[in-house]
Amino acid sequence: MLSAAENRAITEVGPGTAGGDWLRRYWHPIAISDEWGGIKTLWQYDRQIFFKDEPGTVTSWGERLGTFTGRPTATRILGEDLVIFRDGSGRLGLVGLRCPHRGASMEFGKVRSDGLECFYHGWVFDIEGTCLHQPAEPEDSGFKHKVKHKAYPVQEMGGLIWAYMGPGEAPLLPKIDVAARQDGVRAVENFGLWTSNWFQICENSLDQLHTAILHGYKEGERSDIWGTEMPDCTWEQAWYGIRSIQERRKLGNHRVSSYVFPTLNRLAQPWPGAQYRWPRHSGIWRTPVDDTNTLIFSIVFTPNVDGKEPDLPPGLSYDITEVLHQHRVQDYDALVSQGPIFDRTREMLGASDKGVILFRKMTLEAIKAVQDGTDPVGVWRDPAMDKIIDLSDEVVDTYLEPMPRVAA
Ligand code: FES
Ligand SMILES: [Fe+2]
Repeated sequence: MLSAAENRAITEVGPGTAGGDWLRRYWHPIAISDEWGGIKTLWQYDRQIFFKDEPGTVTSWGERLGTFTGRPTATRILGEDLVIFRDGSGRLGLVGLRCPHRGASMEFGKVRSDGLECFYHGWVFDIEGTCLHQPAEPEDSGFKHKVKHKAYPVQEMGGLIWAYMGPGEAPLLPKIDVAARQDGVRAVENFGLWTSNWFQICENSLDQLHTAILHGYKEGERSDIWGTEMPDCTWEQAWYGIRSIQERRKLGNHRVSSYVFPTLNRLAQPWPGAQYRWPRHSGIWRTPVDDTNTLIFSIVFTPNVDGKEPDLPPGLSYDITEVLHQHRVQDYDALVSQGPIFDRTREMLGASDKGVILFRKMTLEAIKAVQDGTDPVGVWRDPAMDKIIDLSDEVVDTYLEPMPRVAA
């Protein structure tokens, strides 16, 4: 159980809030890039939702917000309304939605070689928010030099566009293996817009016991892997966040997953039926849209072995969008039904919730670190960390090994 103030701290994402200031110290994936030419999938879930008071579905809103079309695309990240665009020179920009002149939406702007031109009175902004042109102002006014539009740095990696919305110099964009490795097949997935606060979605990644119940009894794919046995779960602090260890899953399965702060669940990803033993890794990022909406992106990476791609058996695919459809529906219903922002002053935690408790404790410590002027867990600036962060030995699933390991 948390106090009301603690619950606010871990759930608020807007600028000037404790949680929002903390989340702004990290790079977040904000959309699938228009330049990604590899496997790209959109989770199809027609649950009706409202966003910005407009109706739509989990899928349609997810696609609208989480896919950069190449044309100026309106989005909302960490409670801020923004536009992603690519200028005529191919440079990617992320600027405030409303033009600083008189507030027209920059999503209707015209792309110019050097920036984005507001369609109302023609002010032009480059990707750094510098005002380049004001056609209706006197030539010699110099007014444009007084105007600076909100703009955030963006980078592309692994088919996703990443944004840093914090103060000062951006830290390193963590080159997480599934997003950064080039020696394999990458599938980039959009799991839609989930209508709840991001934190309860991420708590689910430290709540491995739910899989035996929420996913264990239902018919459908992967029930062979997610059995109904209660695994022994332990959680421990790691240099990147939290290591979750699960023993005695079905058939003695042993599994370790890594929660990388602030929003990534990094997993070994068994193939359906556990019949195919080729290694496979995935990462699932949750990006807060605002306090009550969250975009979910996934990357599944299948590495080459001995320089070769696998010859996938019939019926298997590189992505997990379809095969885990039913699990996503179950998770969606469980997490969204906790309410838009789960009230943690009214709950009863047990021994099985130790992972959730550790996650909250480390989050509150990370928020405190930012308030104290230091970098929180998961923020890296050391040039030695400017390399692929290979977690493939850290995450384990014996369903991916040639011989299933028998738990002690
Ligand atoms: S509102 Fe954008 S230029 Fe006037
Ligand atoms: Fe789940």
